[in-house]
Amino acid sequence: GGEFGKFYSLPALNDPRIDKLPYSIRILLESAIRNCDNFQVTKEDVEKIIDWEKTAPKQVEIPFKPARVLLQDFTGVPAVVDLACMRDAMNNLGGDSDKINPLVPVDLVIDHSVQVDVARSENAVQANMEFEFQRNKERFAFLKWGSKAFHNMLVVPPGSGIVHQVNLEYLGRVVFNTDGVLYPDSVVGTDSHTTMIDGLGVAGWGVGGIEAEAAMLGQPMSMVLPGVVGFKLSGKLRDGVTATDLVLTVTQMLRKHGVVGKFVEFHGEGVGKISLADRATIANMSPEYGATMGFFPVDNVTLQYLRLTGRSDDTVAMIEAYLRANNMFVDYNEPQVERVYSSYLELDLSDVEPCISGPKRPHDRVPLKEMKADWHSCLDNKVGFKGFAVPKDSQDKVAKFSFHGEPAELRHGSLVIAAITSCTNTSNPSVMLGAGLVAKKACELGLKVKPWIKTSLAPGSGVVTKYLLKSGLQKYLDEQGFNIVGYGCTTCIGNSGELDETVGAAISENDIIASAVLSGNRNFEGRVHPLTRANYLASPPLVVAYALAGTVDIDFEKEPIGVGKDGKDVYFRDIWPSNQEIADAVQSSVLPDMFKSTYEAITKGNPMWNNLGVEESKLYSWDSKSTYIHEPPYFKNMTMDPPGAHGVKDAYCLLNFGDSITTDHISPAGSIQKDSPAAKYLLERGVDRKDFNSYGSRRGNDEIMARGTFANIRIVNKLLNGEVGPKTVHIPTGEKLSVFDAASRYKAAGQDTIVLAGAEYGSGSSRDWAAKGPMLLGVKAVIAKSFERIHRSNLVGMGIIPLCFKAGEDADTLGLTGHERYNIDLPNNINEIRPGQDVTVTTDNGKSFTCTARFDTEVELAYFNHGGILPYVIRQL
Ligand code: F3S
Repeated sequence: GGEFGKFYSLPALNDPRIDKLPYSIRILLESAIRNCDNFQVTKEDVEKIIDWEKTAPKQVEIPFKPARVLLQDFTGVPAVVDLACMRDAMNNLGGDSDKINPLVPVDLVIDHSVQVDVARSENAVQANMEFEFQRNKERFAFLKWGSKAFHNMLVVPPGSGIVHQVNLEYLGRVVFNTDGVLYPDSVVGTDSHTTMIDGLGVAGWGVGGIEAEAAMLGQPMSMVLPGVVGFKLSGKLRDGVTATDLVLTVTQMLRKHGVVGKFVEFHGEGVGKISLADRATIANMSPEYGATMGFFPVDNVTLQYLRLTGRSDDTVAMIEAYLRANNMFVDYNEPQVERVYSSYLELDLSDVEPCISGPKRPHDRVPLKEMKADWHSCLDNKVGFKGFAVPKDSQDKVAKFSFHGEPAELRHGSLVIAAITSCTNTSNPSVMLGAGLVAKKACELGLKVKPWIKTSLAPGSGVVTKYLLKSGLQKYLDEQGFNIVGYGCTTCIGNSGELDETVGAAISENDIIASAVLSGNRNFEGRVHPLTRANYLASPPLVVAYALAGTVDIDFEKEPIGVGKDGKDVYFRDIWPSNQEIADAVQSSVLPDMFKSTYEAITKGNPMWNNLGVEESKLYSWDSKSTYIHEPPYFKNMTMDPPGAHGVKDAYCLLNFGDSITTDHISPAGSIQKDSPAAKYLLERGVDRKDFNSYGSRRGNDEIMARGTFANIRIVNKLLNGEVGPKTVHIPTGEKLSVFDAASRYKAAGQDTIVLAGAEYGSGSSRDWAAKGPMLLGVKAVIAKSFERIHRSNLVGMGIIPLCFKAGEDADTLGLTGHERYNIDLPNNINEIRPGQDVTVTTDNGKSFTCTARFDTEVELAYFNHGGILPYVIRQL
């Protein structure tokens, strides 16, 4: 009531349709009512949500204003660069630069920069943090400037943890209390795994950095009112089955069901039997199953978790009272109003079996008992999603080498990286303590991980260290090489650091298919390490088990993983803990004061962060010599007149791709390859090779990021007849060039380019550089079979036209090779374009076909008319 609902009559909340709405849709409804001003959010928008059951199937557009915005440093640095340069643009246009300020709370956690330079050492945390500060000082100082220059921006310093775990344990509000007005927490984040907070009953998902900046500046985000898949859980997990096995099973089921653009809401008595941490693990992997959210409404388990993590009793009481009063609290002991869903799925938890996913995609789940056979079929198969096409006669190849004087050998499938890492799993005490128990049993039996495997443990918050120490299990993990290496993303984002030289040489010289096993959520090629071609996702205890076995080429049921100190074979079953052992360890080691003291320490900062001297100023003083922070050209020469819509004329095809091109292919986050255009740029500016750092850490510099676009060493471009690598053909001359050099030639000649692609183009993450980079390369349109949700909206946000081939058609069926020139017929007058309208594409060799223009909403058309979302916002402000 009060100020809110001024434009919308609250008695309509008694409407019986509202009680049947899915919980997640209730949060959208509340936001619409509270923000209803009959301008950006109208009464009609509110009515559309109340009538969700009827309107959702029609794919209607609604505005959404999140309660807060979440950033991590890889995406946060470019976001703050954009804000700083929007302030400059506002200033140049004669506007009030102070209007460029977040209007909703912004939480930025610095977690993506720490790298595993030092592993298997008790000093690894301090050593890696020192390297991290040396490499990233300019970026960190810039973020510190941002925290002072912009109101409403909290920066959580490096060394604190992984953004989603910190969000879960500390930042998530569940219910906001702003001057006595209560409303549900909701968050959009510039990281696709923002969905992890859905496990806490907070509606949150990943968006592009550009969209998040607009949300910070008070723009409603435009979204299609989603369908909601009701996912019923019943039964209980069997002994020996982990939350990771559950999430990999759920991921595969939902991928099959098809949930792109939808919410998934978990319900049923089985939900009440899984812990908050297990729910967060399932919610975390929403991008992998393709959903916008994987939502768990608040219940008693949520309230217990809030108390455990140090939220005050008053806060918890306020949350419970608000949600109960609004019929948004689930009590599995009371009769429930039945919610309506768009479609239904069900899983009996007792059907879940131990599994692993890979070698290249998260949804390629392999039951553990089939792993050996699956690995051999991967070796045999042609190159593709699962295969490596290793000739039969070299499948048994052995690479022998000397590792620090000790004889060592690698075969296909041998592990060279084993990492307990990632927000997906390290926030979950049951799997972390499970890993400790496996390490303990192995130590007791006399098994040891081979020293040439790069082992690491990077928890998502300091709490994990506290409970691993309290349980007494950290010392066994240390003994097996899983020393703590830092508190951040590490291997999960490709910051796995160098492999030992002898290991790298053994792999490269013998063409060994080396593997990595990690407890992360992503395993696309080239992400984890350039030398590990097989990358498997597994629970932390399985990571330890595979590290002990030293290979993924093993049948855990039948083959021993090693020989114990008594000379007898040790099997998987000998080291695997029971669910009861894990539950006992959780019960006795995870204590409330651990959370409180950890976050008190974080708010005080650490000495390296506190000693970064930064001047406070409204406008940023750009340093033209910086190779980390550089003023981007987006708003140069901007005027108040929008440039208008535009088609494409005589464009060349820059790249011609097949299916499943991920944002890691488009804009890699990992290491900068020598001899690449980005390396050349850095060397010309006197940066030593050892200080190149990663692309992810250089996202504040548009010059490097443009050069890094499509620089993934594993991309396959049909213009090069299937050759692997970041090159393309410059069509006019037929020369083979780096993608950046070819694009620069086209730009210099004033020639537009387009990209052809297959299905699921842009899957992976919310990475805005995957749209900014192509825009800087001069790409005007992407024509694909289908787009992943966030990436499509990022393309529109940067003024690139996303076009979809008609069903059943693609570049191959239409006979397009990429050697032709393309015309895209779009009216210049934006009022003549409608969301989702058909457009005609013609080529210079006489082909003509129809595509759907994927501007999904009127607001997206407005962004396109203004040349992108940020110029639109500046002109509005
Ligand atoms: Fe970081 Fe990997 Fe999570 S990159 S945010 S740990 S998915």
